This record gives sequence, C-alpha cells and structure tokens, in this order.
Amino acid sequence: MNYNKKTVYDIDVAGKKVLLRCDFNVPQDKATGAITSDKRIVAALPTIRYLLGQGAAVIACSHLGKPEPSFEKWVKKQTEKGKDPAELTEEKWQKSLKKLTLAPVAERLSELLGKPVVFAHDVVGPDAKAKAAALKGGEIMLLENTRFEKGETKNDPALAKELASMAEVYVSDAFGSVHRAHASTAGVAAYLPAVSGLLVAKELEVMGKALDDPKRPFVAVLGGAKVSDKIAVINNLLEKADTVIIGGGMAYTFAKAQGGSIGKSLCEDDKLDYARQMIAKAQEKGVKLLLPVDAVCIKDFPDPIDAPVDVTIVPISAIPADMEGCDIGPETMKLFADAVKASKTVVWNGPMGVFENPTLAAGTLAVAKAMAESDATTVIGGGDSAAAVQQMGLGDKMTHISTGGGASLEYLEGKELPGIAVIQNA
Ligand code: 3PG
Repeated sequence: MNYNKKTVYDIDVAGKKVLLRCDFNVPQDKATGAITSDKRIVAALPTIRYLLGQGAAVIACSHLGKPEPSFEKWVKKQTEKGKDPAELTEEKWQKSLKKLTLAPVAERLSELLGKPVVFAHDVVGPDAKAKAAALKGGEIMLLENTRFEKGETKNDPALAKELASMAEVYVSDAFGSVHRAHASTAGVAAYLPAVSGLLVAKELEVMGKALDDPKRPFVAVLGGAKVSDKIAVINNLLEKADTVIIGGGMAYTFAKAQGGSIGKSLCEDDKLDYARQMIAKAQEKGVKLLLPVDAVCIKDFPDPIDAPVDVTIVPISAIPADMEGCDIGPETMKLFADAVKASKTVVWNGPMGVFENPTLAAGTLAVAKAMAESDATTVIGGGDSAAAVQQMGLGDKMTHISTGGGASLEYLEGKELPGIAVIQNA
C-alpha cells in the first residue's frame, strides 16, 4: 500500500467548506457520561487549528461508541443478551442513543479551541444541512454521531454522498478509525478530493519509518491475550525486526508448543502449530525470537481484577497444574529490558501481563521503563499498551503513542487501511 499521501498542506482550503473526519470516540464514565480522557480531541487540534487559520469552514464529524441505529435490530440484540422483549420500548432505545451523543465532545472541543463549536443535532438531516450552509470561513461545527445513521457502517454510497454534499474537500484525520470502511471514513472520498490531516500524516510518518526504515537494531515487543489476534502482526514483524519479543497471555501457547507444562494458563491449542511455524520462521530469517523464561503465577484469578493476589514464580515450562501464568517473571523482565535497551527502534503492542492488577503489572512496567529510559525511537501501538504506559505515567517519555488501537494493529499487520487508501497519493 502507498502511504505517501497528500496532506492539508498540499491543497488550498481558504474559504472552502471542509468535511473533517476525526476520531472523537472518547472513553466516557458509564454513570455520568463525562469524558474520562480527551486525548483524542487534543490529538485533532493541530489539523483543526490549521484549517481554521487558513480560513476554512470546518464541518467535523466522528462516531462515538457502537449505537444501534435500527430499533428492530436493537431489540434483537438486547433479546439475544437475555433482556425481556416486553420491556424493550422505543423510549429505552432512544435513551441508549442519547447516551452516545457527541454534544459533550463539542463542548470540550470548544473549551480547548477557545471558540464556539456549532453542534448539529443530526448527521445529514435539516439541522446539519442548514448549519453547514451558514458556516463561514474560520468557523467550526460538529455533526452528531455518524453511527446514528444506518448507512454509516455499511459504507452506504447514499449517505456518503449526503455527507459530501455539505463540503468541497474531505480531510481524513481519524487515525483510530482508518481500518473501518465506513461512509464517513472511506465512502465520502468518492465524491470529494481527499487529503490527510496532520494526525494521520504524523501517525503514518512515525509508524511507517519505524517499520520500513528503522534505525537498527529494531525490536518489536508483542503482548496481549491471544495468539489469534496477533497472527498477522507476528508474521509481518518477523519480516522486518531484528528481535521479536513475545510476552503476555499468548506466550503460554508458545511455551506449550515447545513442550512445556503451562498449567491453567491461557492457551489456544489450535495455534500450537502456528507457534512452531513462527519459531521456525524466526530461525530461518535470523531474527532473534525472545520468549519468556519464567512466569508469575496465581491460583485464583482476582475478583475484582485489582484485588490483592498471592503469586508464585516458576520457570514458564513448569507451571503447576493448578496455576496460571499472569505476568512475565523477573528473569524474563531482565531479558526483555536488556533487548529493549540495546535497540535503536522499539515498537510495542500488547501488555506483558494482567497490568490492571498492581501485583501483575510488574512485567509491563519493566518493558515500559526500559523503553522510557532508552535513547531509541519508541512507538506504542495504541490500545492496551498505550493505556498501560499512560497509567504508569511514562507517556511523555515515548517518541510516539498511536491514537489507534485496532487501526495501529492492522497497520502493524501490513494490511491495507481503507481510510488511508482513499486519500490522494502525493
Ligand atoms: C477505536 O476506538 O478503536 C476506534 O474509534 C474505532 O472504533 P470501533 O472499533 O467502534 O470501530
């Protein structure tokens, strides 16, 4: 895939209406709906400020959460979850949608920009159309949650056309959503000239350089629960990195594949052959594959997840039958940290253990610290690893923390990203 794309710097936007796709899919407090992290809104500011400074009229849009825009389908899904169909009223469905309004995002965006953000109460309805028509250069509005429209996730051309009809230029800056082929992330580009925003440009530049032209040694650190989630990533990174480190829940499948006893640890038995193939591929390619040598084990999984736990440290190949590994052990921490410290480029995706529990977060912290202390280019590939690094207060010490979870994972897999593919080539 060609990642050399036109950006907002390559076109004249003065006096033009610009449809700007952002990723304002922010975390919210379940009870109050308050935004618990505005990082994604902050990440969109450089593009917004640039466009407004150039005299563009900015029509921003985004999805938030996973609303169900059809009442019938909502009833079906809720019934499947065990809810009583008699209690599933249209009013309750409307309430579930209201929880996912982008109005609080418009408010926060306005505070951050220090100027009014006009909020449209629909996506392509009369309110959005009227407000977009009245919007002047240097002004910004935000449309309501794009997923309130049935056509959004289906990439319906009719919806894409309606969205496009309000603007003259399309700017793709929702890096966290570029792996989605939806009407507002991809479809709309069939009707408008499409360029990238500054966030997408930065993500592509930093991650692209780390993957395709890294300063070596290049170390990839992969964690997380399931091998099946990371199959394509492991495979792709064995083509590019000098060392691939595998920790987290998926390491136990690798340990079993090598003949170890892993007790009650997570394991995907249908991926044992794949694990063996990856070990063989690393040998063939001359890539160092570092797997854990010891594990921090527990007997009962903590409930709640951050409750105190008793732990036992054992070799990863000799986990007792009644125990499960939940973090890398001290020897592994040293092994992984030394590899990270000796590198010039590190890309990390996925925690080393159950980092939500303070006792089981030590392995993840050890990797994060080694990255923070190294002079290497350090790239955190979104999702849980980004959350872990922020939780540990080490975010400022990293070269780049991706704003994309699923998107950065698909980028690391080497997949074509629909929201990038539609941007004009430079
Ligand atoms: C994310 O949070 O990963 C993006 O906003 C994409 O959200 P989605 O998984 O609901 O498409």
